[in-house]
Amino acid sequence: MTKKVLILPGDGIGPEIVTEAERVLRAADEKFNLGLEIDHGLLGGSAIDQHGAPYPEETSAKAKAADAILLGAVGGPKWDNIERSIRPERGLLGIRSELELFGNLRPAILYPQLADASSLKPEVVSGLDILIVRELTGGIYFGTPRGIRELENGEREGYNTYKYSESEIRRIGVVAFESARKRNGRVCSVDKANVLEATILWREIMEEVAKDYPDVELSHMYVDNAAMQLVRAPKQFDVMVTGNMFGDILSDAAAMLTGSIGMLPSASLDASGKGMYEPCHGSAPDIAGQGIANPLATILSAAMMLRYSLDMSAAADAIESAVDTVLDKGLRTADIYTDGDVKVSTSEMGAAVVEALAAQ
Ligand code: IPM
Ligand code: MG
Repeated sequence: MTKKVLILPGDGIGPEIVTEAERVLRAADEKFNLGLEIDHGLLGGSAIDQHGAPYPEETSAKAKAADAILLGAVGGPKWDNIERSIRPERGLLGIRSELELFGNLRPAILYPQLADASSLKPEVVSGLDILIVRELTGGIYFGTPRGIRELENGEREGYNTYKYSESEIRRIGVVAFESARKRNGRVCSVDKANVLEATILWREIMEEVAKDYPDVELSHMYVDNAAMQLVRAPKQFDVMVTGNMFGDILSDAAAMLTGSIGMLPSASLDASGKGMYEPCHGSAPDIAGQGIANPLATILSAAMMLRYSLDMSAAADAIESAVDTVLDKGLRTADIYTDGDVKVSTSEMGAAVVEALAAQ
């Protein structure tokens, strides 16, 4: 049976890193006879340039028909001054929302080979393995009313709405508790319940969900403290579950603990397990086109896609172990390079992963 994979390269370094991930996917397809049917589509700035919209109808149709989606990254200065309703980021938010990809899994794992690349001391991060579960289709990112309006005194005011319904909180809570069950059995729910009503309810519902998981331990932490604890003693966490905006911020911080945000994959899942997979980092327009971006987060996202949406865990394991092999060999893109390593380009890194995969 064939499985339809839609690849959305996006903007900036997106096309470069996705090219490498696609090579790795095709190599895995050949090795394991996966029956992948790969198609491509436009999202973000590249879609604005060709279709005048960041998430065109054609991409939407392909996305709905696909079994899984692999995305590079969207956005860049070229589209910074465009009307805000059609900015590239709107395309990303649009596809997340239309496909109801509410469950965003962002694992922060420190590869032992990269302990020196972390900005924290090796003993603080060695063995680090955290999973951030971020709610992705609600909260302040999507709450209405929103906008920029003129007040009576002629001054302008920007406003957004932070809201979560019980069912939205419950379903992301279930994702977190189910994940914790497969890991170390601990969930830390991050909120700002000392100030924000929306997160008072969040905390209440998390307590309710916890009742169905007596084997999982639930704790709560305010987001400011969580940010501090992530850089002070990150290994205290197993699964962290939080809303859209806090998750956006904390996952960048967690990413950096691992040495580089260029190492972090992510999965965004709907209720049935269909998903979109993307690196946690952005489109990095400052280094686009130079062949120096790290493709590993995207390659690892492709592995997550095989595991979570396509039920091909042997191939996923093989890709992850190939990444391990190239790191063992000392191959490093610029973002994870320290003295004594072998510096490689984006495509050399991709080729090395393909080679390690074939050699298994
Ligand atoms: C992310 C990104 C996006 C977000 C942007 C590009 C809209 O930062 O996936 O973390 O804020 O969700
Ligand atoms: Mg972000």
